[in-house]
Amino acid sequence: MTAIAVVGSQWGDEGKGKITDFLSKDAAMAVRSNGGNNAGHTIEIGDKTFKMRLIPSGIFAAKNGAVIGNGVVINPEVMFGELDNLEKEGIDISGLKISNRAHVIMPYHILQDTYQEEAKGDKKIGTTKNGIGPCYMDKASRIGIRVCDLLERDTFEEKLRTSLAEKNALFTKVYGKPELKFEDIFEKYLEYGQKMKKYVTDTSVVVNNALDNDEKVLFEGAQGVMLDIDEGTYPYVTSSNTISGGIASGIGMGANRLDTVIGVCKAYTTRVGEGPFPTELLDEVGDRIRETAHEYGTVTGRPRRVGWFDSVALRHAKRVAGINALSLNLLDVFSGFDKIKICTAYELDGEKIDYYPASLKELYRCKPVYEELPAWEEDITNVKTWEDLPENAKKFLNRVSELVGVPLVTVSVGPDREQTIVLKNPWEM
Ligand code: GDP
Ligand code: IMO
Ligand code: MG
Repeated sequence: MTAIAVVGSQWGDEGKGKITDFLSKDAAMAVRSNGGNNAGHTIEIGDKTFKMRLIPSGIFAAKNGAVIGNGVVINPEVMFGELDNLEKEGIDISGLKISNRAHVIMPYHILQDTYQEEAKGDKKIGTTKNGIGPCYMDKASRIGIRVCDLLERDTFEEKLRTSLAEKNALFTKVYGKPELKFEDIFEKYLEYGQKMKKYVTDTSVVVNNALDNDEKVLFEGAQGVMLDIDEGTYPYVTSSNTISGGIASGIGMGANRLDTVIGVCKAYTTRVGEGPFPTELLDEVGDRIRETAHEYGTVTGRPRRVGWFDSVALRHAKRVAGINALSLNLLDVFSGFDKIKICTAYELDGEKIDYYPASLKELYRCKPVYEELPAWEEDITNVKTWEDLPENAKKFLNRVSELVGVPLVTVSVGPDREQTIVLKNPWEM
């Protein structure tokens, strides 16, 4: 296989970073195609922990480096901060490529995100306040600023003046906030453009050429299917397509190029921010999972909401994202638990249903139908093979795979690269 996508199959934070890093040791390049620095991907290599926001997690291991595609929204300040850190750690970043068509997160996007959230009050989305939504809004409104615009002084000046006039009107008239000054932004962002220039190229050509030459390319998703702007729990979603379909448009390649779509999931479910979450645990079991697994946001530090594994959501994710392989992470969290629950269906107004309702009102009325399985006592963090897993852990994994209807390819029993059990090598499927 030459093209593998790793997508989150729940509400993000499934451990995509870890699996991407693990798989990219066999890849020529690692590619990101959506989202921005709302993502927080944790990678543990030996005694080092890296928290990646914008730079693909595959940069550590992929042979020819990493690609940031046109579908990504780039905050240059955050990106250069991340690159500086990587360089300090001795990581080779020379292979990085940035799309000339990617949109740039401007200071007014971050403010707009914050003001919109404030104005929504208790109806807020709970965004990461990184300007992701407003940047994609401007892209769709055709007033966005792209990386290539930062490289042309006159184009950038004209676009920035137009956008700023509109944003300042919004900030002062609707939100009663101060204006931003052109002079405070213009030269600074032109400089970012110059600093970025050596990495900027048409990344669609780079990625398509690699695939044409049968090189192995790993497509690294950000967020998760349930946060997809079309297929997630709208409006409590992010502003990009997180499903595998978003990869084709976020890179500029045919939708027929992916060979395998790995859905990454946890042994349970988490969600950060607001919105429906049918299997949410608001009791001491939820607290125990949160504390055992340190479920606090990588980006905002917010405690993550925790719930049981939801196979209704996973089957939805499988269908809309074409998931044909499953990576399950954080299995070790259930060592010492008495029992584990899996949601097999929802009950809506007294009827059992097996689809994910589009209407939030219906979704809030859905009650999960659970199946209960026994957990295990053993610490499994050093287990290396399927055979060495406790019987009850195997039963749990087999049931998850059966309910989702997708074979498991990896099982993770700890945050380190090495704590990964490979059932089937995705590059050899
Ligand atoms: P991502 O956004 O999908 O890359 O996931 P995050 O990095 O935001 O959150 C996943 C968290 O789980 C990180 O802190 C990882 O280090 C950690 N993690 C990943 N796999 C495992 C695992 O198998 N066991 C444990 N205990 N932690 C894991
Ligand atoms: P990774 O890649 C978990 C959530 C936010 C909020 C909603 C919208 O680490 O899995 P946004 O700032 O995107 O407009 O916020 O989406 N969200 C994530 N939750 N993991 C992420 O990324 C997320 N990126 C955004 O918490 O509910
Ligand atoms: Mg994360």
